Amino acid sequence: MTIIDGKATAAQIKAEIAAEVEQIVSNGGKRPHLAAVLVGHDGGSETYVRNKVLACEACGFRSSLIRFEDDVTEDELLACVGRLNADADVDGFIVQLPLPRHISEQKVIEAIDYRKDVDGFHPVNVGRMAIGLPCYISATPKGILELLKRYRIETAGKKCVVLGRSNIVGKPMAQLMMQKQYGDATVTVCHSRTQGLAEECRSADILIAAIGRPGFVTADMVKEGATVIDVGTTRVPDASRKSGFRLAGDVDFEAVAPRCAAITPVPGGVGPMTICMLMLNTLAAGKREYYE
Ligand code: GUN
Repeated sequence: MTIIDGKATAAQIKAEIAAEVEQIVSNGGKRPHLAAVLVGHDGGSETYVRNKVLACEACGFRSSLIRFEDDVTEDELLACVGRLNADADVDGFIVQLPLPRHISEQKVIEAIDYRKDVDGFHPVNVGRMAIGLPCYISATPKGILELLKRYRIETAGKKCVVLGRSNIVGKPMAQLMMQKQYGDATVTVCHSRTQGLAEECRSADILIAAIGRPGFVTADMVKEGATVIDVGTTRVPDASRKSGFRLAGDVDFEAVAPRCAAITPVPGGVGPMTICMLMLNTLAAGKREYYE
């Protein structure tokens, strides 16, 4: 059984990015610049954005953090998006989600210039991804594809079950695993209303769990020799930790791991890859790889 080390893989990719950035800069090119917009003080969002800024430093990127309080109006936020769209020095930017309830996330996402949408959330990027055109692919599914590739896990012709249908993970993951140029697999998407869910999961050669329910995937739901990818990162209270919580995956790791050919742990599996893929998207933005 192989434990897929997302932390080490992400560190390696960041080193590869940093080397390429130094090459670009020494050839007189522009250092990639990522801007992040953070609204309010949600603990999870603060951590994610801090880690994104740190990852930029590790990759040799310039980064800018733009903060607003919870009571920022939708118009003020849209004006900020407009300024970032127009700022020629900013290659790509993200607006950290979730946003306060009085702001429409969809409206904000659609206001972002798709050519700078390094999260890959804009409908132009989602649509281009769905039909296999060059575009920014959202970070979590892109990171999972990269792990499967770097660990040489065969996906072509295999049965892949995706648990979850979110816009950020489940839907794009299923799309990518289905496409010839990425997973080339036979894909089933399961969700809260799926009948015979355990049996569906048991048929999977590759099981990707993204439902946000700690320990949901138990040993009886996993075929012997399957590859299991755990996208769950639910914060559960843990008095023994300084932070007061720990991250729990969707998979009962202790029980499931012995059955697997390969499995991602939580933490240290998919999580570190996600930010690393945002860095790859930012590098592509700096190089105008997908759009002029
Ligand atoms: N919130 C949780 N994940 C993400 C992400 O990948 N991008 C943004 N912008 N917000 C998030």
